[in-house]
This record gives sequence, structure tokens and C-alpha cells, in this order.
Amino acid sequence: MAQVSRTAPERMRAIAIDRFGGPEVLTMHTLPVPVPGASEVLIAVHTAEVGGWDADMRGGWSMSGKKPRFPLVLGGGGSGTVAAVGSRVRRFKIGDPVYSYAWDNPKGGFYAEYVAAPAETAAPVPAPLDLAQAGAIPIAALTAIQGIDDALHLKKGERLIILGASGGLGVFAIQFAKLRGARVLAIASGADGVALARKLGADAAIDGRDGEVAGAARAFAPDGADAIVAFTGGKALTECLDTLRRGGRLAYPNGIEPVPKKRRGIRTNPYDGIAGRAQWERLARAITAARLQVPIAAEFVLAEAARAHERLAQGHILGKIVLGARPFAPLRTGFQRTDHWSPGPSFNCAFSWSCRNEIDLRIRRAYVKGWRAHHASIVPEAPANPRGTGGRRVCALDA
Ligand SMILES: NC(=O)c1ccc[n+]([C@@H]2O[C@H](COP(=O)([O-])OP(=O)(O)OC[C@H]3O[C@@H](n4cnc5c(N)ncnc54)[C@H](OP(=O)(O)O)[C@@H]3O)[C@@H](O)[C@H]2O)c1
Repeated sequence: MAQVSRTAPERMRAIAIDRFGGPEVLTMHTLPVPVPGASEVLIAVHTAEVGGWDADMRGGWSMSGKKPRFPLVLGGGGSGTVAAVGSRVRRFKIGDPVYSYAWDNPKGGFYAEYVAAPAETAAPVPAPLDLAQAGAIPIAALTAIQGIDDALHLKKGERLIILGASGGLGVFAIQFAKLRGARVLAIASGADGVALARKLGADAAIDGRDGEVAGAARAFAPDGADAIVAFTGGKALTECLDTLRRGGRLAYPNGIEPVPKKRRGIRTNPYDGIAGRAQWERLARAITAARLQVPIAAEFVLAEAARAHERLAQGHILGKIVLGARPFAPLRTGFQRTDHWSPGPSFNCAFSWSCRNEIDLRIRRAYVKGWRAHHASIVPEAPANPRGTGGRRVCALDA
């Protein structure tokens, strides 16, 4: 029997699809809060990671090839606080801040207020990240570090080319490769992508859409680079491969297009990112050691999921897109550092319309800190008068 938080409601808001299609099929649903099994945790979602794979699933793609059951709640990764733990779970307790990579979860994804996921798919949020940053990265950061460590076995001093360096996985691959002591040529997208790659620590960076890829790769490693990690395929990858030294290595996560052809003399390792306790522990050490920077290109609230997918379709996203599962979008860390306000264990308050901005501010602060603010939707107690003042709203925040 799961230990269930007193504050977990029976029903929740979730973005789900009832059929495959474009961004418009992502609509708000009211669904039962999933019940965690004995080895699972219930997570009150703070932030959901958004990736191209979500758009693929929305359009009908499935890694397992299995037909999903509708309504289907998307979102393979995200962060939140533990709201309930299954009877066999010892690693977590209610209130712990966690992030999780729970792919193809039959109990639903992170585009929701609650997720029930196997405990081994979750991990404590590592310093120095907050919940908003942690929610942005589970799939991207795990897959990026596994490219560097497990697929390439990158060693200190090796020369690595990262293709797609300013995208969702690339921004983390740069930082992990530098942490391992490699020299990095980042092939990024656009002048802004190049600037970001340099800021994240790349030794050299070029615009792969505009620049001379082969020339830059030869200038970077005149006798050939040791390894490539590719987060996109096509002409730029072919040019990079032409400059790799004999016996060099290529790694790429399954999903890049077009799929690169195998070449004689190059060890090619397509791979999938996986989540498990050892993977989380290594990631946490790396995040802390690298003081990982998490570039967020755009933030949306749950109700704006369709807009988030429209933004995804436009491309040229520097870093990640996220969805805040709570009523207000996640705020940036600078905000958190200046915040000294805290609610009591169960904080109920009523506010007049005239101080609406103040309550918004307080809820946002609680939200950023990862306190359960799921009752924080402002409920009109009385209709607003035409001047927009004098009505009252109530909310409750649970620390
Ligand atoms: N198998 C797994 O476990 C797994 C897990 C996660 C991701 N993946 C796959 O990994 C891939 C990367 O994911 P992601 O989230 O990082 O995608 P992403 O954010 O779209 O990153 C790809 C990047 O490549 C850039 N790019 C394209 N052509 C370029 C060129 N010629 N020069 C320089 N940059 C170029 C894109 O820039 P623009 O957008 O500006 O064109 C984009 O920034 C995807 O195919 C995804 O499906 C697989």
C-alpha cells in the first residue's frame, strides 16, 4: 500500500492526446491522479522536459512499436517533489525533490500535475540545480553523458567534434566532454549557437550551417580528430567523418537523421540513453563537478503545451524547452536567490484583487523553491468588480 500524501488530490490537470496529429491535438484533460505501485513514487510535477521525441510520439511514433492507449499523456522526463512512495521504496520520502526519466510510462508522462514512475527512474536533484533546471534535463543530460562516457569512452586530451552542439543534447555534451578533459570543437547552429557553445566551454566553435565544416575540423585536429558525437546527421556529419583519424570513433543517439552509413576504419556506436541508479549517480557527480549550466530557450506553462510544440517545430532551439506543470511558469534562478519568504507547513491566505500581483509573486516563489503549490491556483471567492479591485481570491500552499 502506497504512503499517500495528504495533499495529493484524486484528479489532476494533464495535457493528453486523444489521437495522433499536430500540436493542436495536445489538449487539457482532467484525469485521475495515477496510483503508485509498490516500487513506484508519485511525483508532484514541477517541470516537464520537452524534446523532439515528444513531437514524434504526438505524431504516432513509438519506440516499442506498441500502440498507445488514449488519452496519452506525453513527457518522458521532468522534475518535481515526491508526493507518495510505494511500500517497497526506501530511497525516497514525501517532499524529496527529484528528477526522473521514465520513458513510455504506461501510467502517463510528465505533461501532467502528477506522475507515478518506478523509483529507479528517479533521482534526487543534484546541486547546484533547482527543480526548474533539473526538470529540463533528464533525457538530454543522461543521453549526452552516456555518449561521452559509454559510447565513446572519451579520454583526457582527446580531440572531440560535437555536431549539433547548441541543441538540446549538445549543450550538455560540451560541458561533460570538457569535464573529462577533452579538447572540443563545437559545430553549432547560427552565430548565437556558436556564442553559446563558446560560453559553455568549447575550445573552438563554428556555425555548421554556414561555416566550412571540413576546414574547421582540419584546423582543429590537423592529423584527424579522435572522436565525433553527432546529434544530427547529413552533410555536416559526412564532412566531419572525412576528417576523422583512422581508428577514430563515432557515437550518435538513435534518432538522428539521416542515419549515418558505417565506414571502414571508423568505430561507430549508435546508442540509447538509459536511466538507472548507476547512471543517475554518475550524472549527479558530473553535474556538480561541471557546475552544469542549463540553457533554457523557452518556458511554457502546461496549458501552453501546443504552443511549446509549435516552437519545437520552428527549430533553432538553443538548449531546452520546458513546460511548467504548476499554474505559473518556472522562474529563473536569480529570482530564487533573492527570495526570503516562506510559507508555513500549510499556508492559507485570502487576498484582495488589489494585491493580486503580490500573491502571484508569493506563489511563484513557493513554486520555484519546489514546495508543493498545487493548490495555489487562485480561486475567485467573489467575482471581480469592473474596476478589477475588491474581489477576493484564496489559495493554499503546502510547504
Ligand atoms: N536514442 C535516445 O536515447 C535519444 C535520446 C535523446 C535524443 N535522441 C535523439 O538525439 C538527437 C538530438 O536530440 P536534441 O534534443 O539535441 O535535438 P535538437 O535540439 O534538435 O538538436 C539538434 C541540433 O543540431 C543542429 N544542427 C542541424 N544541422 C546542423 C549543422 N549543419 N550544423 C550545426 N548544427 C546543426 C540543430 O540546429 P537548428 O535547430 O538550428 O537547425 C539543433 O541545434 C535527436 O535526433 C533525438 O531524437 C535520442
